[in-house]
Amino acid sequence: MAKSARPNSASGGDVAVADLTVEQAAAELERLAAQIAHHDKLYYQNDEPEITDADYDALRIRNGEIEARFPELIREDSPSAKVGAAPSDGFSKVRHRVAMLSLGNAFADGDVTEFIERVRKFLKLPETDPLQITAEPKIDGLSISLRYEKGVLVEAATRGDGTEGENVTANVMTIKSIPHRLKGKGVPDIMEVRGEIYMSHADFAELNKAQAAAGAKVFANPRNAAAGSLRQLDSKITAQRPLEYFAYAWGDVSALPADTQADMVADFGKWGLPINPLMKICNGADELLSYYAKLAEKRASLGYDIDGVVYKVNRLDLQERLGYVSRAPRWAIAHKFPAEQAMTVLRDIEIQVGRTGALTPVAKLEPVTVGGVVVSNATLHNEDEINRKDVRIGDTVVVQRAGDVIPQIVKVVEEKRPKDAVPYVFPEECPACGSHAVREVDEKSGDMDAVRRCTGGLICPAQRVERLKHFVSRNAFDIEGLGDKSIAELYADKIIQSPPDIFTLEQRNAAGEINLAEREGWGKQSVKKLFAAIEARRQIPLDRFIYALGIRHIGETTARVLARSYGSIGTLHEAMAAAQDQESESYRDLNNIDGIGKVVADAVVAFFAEPHNRDIVEQLLQHITPEPLQAVASNTPVAGKTVVFTGTLEKLTRSEAKAQAERLGAKVSGSVSAKTDYVVAGAQAGSKLKKAAELGVTVLSEDDWIALIGK
Ligand code: IVH
Repeated sequence: MAKSARPNSASGGDVAVADLTVEQAAAELERLAAQIAHHDKLYYQNDEPEITDADYDALRIRNGEIEARFPELIREDSPSAKVGAAPSDGFSKVRHRVAMLSLGNAFADGDVTEFIERVRKFLKLPETDPLQITAEPKIDGLSISLRYEKGVLVEAATRGDGTEGENVTANVMTIKSIPHRLKGKGVPDIMEVRGEIYMSHADFAELNKAQAAAGAKVFANPRNAAAGSLRQLDSKITAQRPLEYFAYAWGDVSALPADTQADMVADFGKWGLPINPLMKICNGADELLSYYAKLAEKRASLGYDIDGVVYKVNRLDLQERLGYVSRAPRWAIAHKFPAEQAMTVLRDIEIQVGRTGALTPVAKLEPVTVGGVVVSNATLHNEDEINRKDVRIGDTVVVQRAGDVIPQIVKVVEEKRPKDAVPYVFPEECPACGSHAVREVDEKSGDMDAVRRCTGGLICPAQRVERLKHFVSRNAFDIEGLGDKSIAELYADKIIQSPPDIFTLEQRNAAGEINLAEREGWGKQSVKKLFAAIEARRQIPLDRFIYALGIRHIGETTARVLARSYGSIGTLHEAMAAAQDQESESYRDLNNIDGIGKVVADAVVAFFAEPHNRDIVEQLLQHITPEPLQAVASNTPVAGKTVVFTGTLEKLTRSEAKAQAERLGAKVSGSVSAKTDYVVAGAQAGSKLKKAAELGVTVLSEDDWIALIGK
């Protein structure tokens, strides 16, 4: 499978569409169908696109142009007849009662004028008659259909291939801004609201920082982060991800509550759904184009990614008359923004060393403005990426900020390569400490890890500083007054070398060993505040304590799992000492904890096997008291079972029931699947009860449940 969007000449790919022979056209349509399907899968299922949106659009446009010239060659698997990719495994499927369609694209101003003309012609609407068109941002996220029955959210589904999507109800239920119940008057009995789930730039940056700190996957852009967060099989992970939603369309509706697009969306807002504040009703192409130009200017400061403007005919009766062609409505179009790209020179490749020793290459660029922002660094991801793109120091490169907050290098402009440029050789030694840097090989798959890591551990100053930064970071000890910069300075001046040193600062300061108030940028007041902030952390929840240790692969969720399972740091410490022996019961127990796989288990064991790490934990415990979390029981009748609550419960609120079940070791899910053990049905239970019956899942009344848990 060709990975590049570049057409290949054997199939006529470099020939203008007008000059293609029939054979060339057929061959190219075949190639395009395969390529587009490949990229659809990467984008929709794996959330890891390989080419830019602009390149993808170019493929689709060429496909469309060839099909227009050779309609007899249109393939059965033509990309123009499909939307997105079929759902991935793991979630149950939802058939959309009303298909979730895509939009046609406009790129040039002329396409917009043509759109209006087409609409008028179709409706036989004279030039003099008004035609209202709404304009609104095209949110770069993923579309989701929310089904409300009698105002209650009963099901949420992804678009999938437009006909069938994934059931992501449990995950969507964790998104704070999506109401579980619609409020106000006039909510139709059945109301499928459609809109976009996305992640703001600020939340994206923070999430990636935390992911990187935990040695977990870093997302390329907010869209991928949103999609990846929503597609978690464990909704507890989704619950921790900052997802947002804008409602802008609808599917199955029992009775339309309004006559226009704008009023429909206004109703969504009244019912408590988040709607985009920038929607505007326009008249004529000029107003649309001026909206587009203004939004393009605002784009960089919106705080979330948009990739264009969507225009929709406002009157619903006209929408109805206009109908659909293949995969898109005739009454709407997406006017895309051009990708924000620029050319510049790659001055150097800098290797940064992270907390877990990962060597990350950063492109140092001749500063250039891309979409209104000056860019001087870009990510190069890893060694393989540099080789794949054959990026060399001195090269002229194309940089892009298309929806991506972190600028990326799209490609090298080979014609501009200096004669003396040599292929980049990735260092095999850590630039911070000189230790060997190696790529681990996965025992099972035999694949080489994409990341090269320093083996220096705690002798590596870069890792030590990064670990310290992690230790005081927001989701760990959260010590105000100790930011990245002060940590780096205090480390360099040998005042803080490892986490326990933080807790002796005040003492050492009082004894005159150090004088913090005299440091540049500090003062008596800020030192006093810092001491108070440190003092306040002498008690800390156990999960935060574990997370702060910066153990590889241990993010906040896993830290919580460990804290819950072991209850106290003493127990954890002892168990991990015993688990050094892979044959031991302790090691088996650790591997059997739900949410802990072998990789994580081995990482925790390895951490505690290191005398230096045990030393740090012991020193810390002289200053700090980690507070145990309420332990989750493992010896109850419902431990390890998956339970779904549905309908109205009489004796407990839904959240009480959920919390209680979780305390007893059960997993509470929002949707019924073959994996469900019990469905607890209260009054007016609907579709979930039906589903349980279909799947043969045990259904309990509220009283049965109470009897089962023995309360
Ligand atoms: S309307 C039948 N409005 O763009 C038309 N879509 O390329 C329904 N999108 O699948 C879509 N912002 O995921 C509409 N304001 C907006 C949108 C929007 C983003 C997405 C949506 C859709 C895709 C089409």
